[in-house]
Amino acid sequence: MNTKIYAHRGFSAKYPENTMIAFRKAQEAHVDGIELDIQLTQDEKLIVMHDETLDRTTNGNGLIRHTNSSLIRQLSAGAWFDQDFVSEQVPFLEEVLDWIKDTDIELNIEIKGDPRDREKAVSQLLALLNSFDLKDQVVVSSFDHMALKLLREADLNVEIAALTLGMLADTSQYLATHQFEGIHCHYSGVTEEDVQFLHERKQAIRLYTVNDQDILLSLCDIGADAVMTDDPLLALFARNHSQK
Ligand code: G3P
Ligand code: MG
Repeated sequence: MNTKIYAHRGFSAKYPENTMIAFRKAQEAHVDGIELDIQLTQDEKLIVMHDETLDRTTNGNGLIRHTNSSLIRQLSAGAWFDQDFVSEQVPFLEEVLDWIKDTDIELNIEIKGDPRDREKAVSQLLALLNSFDLKDQVVVSSFDHMALKLLREADLNVEIAALTLGMLADTSQYLATHQFEGIHCHYSGVTEEDVQFLHERKQAIRLYTVNDQDILLSLCDIGADAVMTDDPLLALFARNHSQK
């Protein structure tokens, strides 16, 4: 099966990361999936942003967990990238789910944020996935494996992937022990044998974040389930040249 192309934070090479325009442009590029990051606000709403503070990707500042979502919505999430995108707002996760449910794009939701908020974040996320009936289209990942364990305890149907910096001592056993369906790890050092070993055990492996054409091609050749890239057009071009 072809390696899927996931747009990392949307089409973030050309558009401001984690905004609706970055997601829509990824759709126009014909990606298979989109990866985004979520954080919990002070008023317990899930918003789409990578960092725990507003400083880098908005014209505001401070911790998201100390800021009300109504204030966050008044900020520009695009001006830092280019004035052309000044009207982009920080999306609510709900808004993205409402858009993506009418597409065939897979959604990788990465739980970020302060570990003190993990229980609330997980329960809010699950409530949203249930209300949009989107579990078949979504894979949830996080470096915070405690959050993933909470999600697994609460729900057996949503797909979960352990997010790691690399392969583990025994990745397959770790995934099986925690009833996680796959791993999302940095691409370096991952071999065709690693991919085959996991696939024989019906476990998925998706690799981040790849913006080099030759590496993209090699990861398609080893049969990874998906590669995450900031530049989906480059990745689609590379995949067209893959042997698989
Ligand atoms: O989910 C893969 C990747 O997004 C993890 O790193 O920092 O880009 O969220 P980061
Ligand atoms: Mg991420």
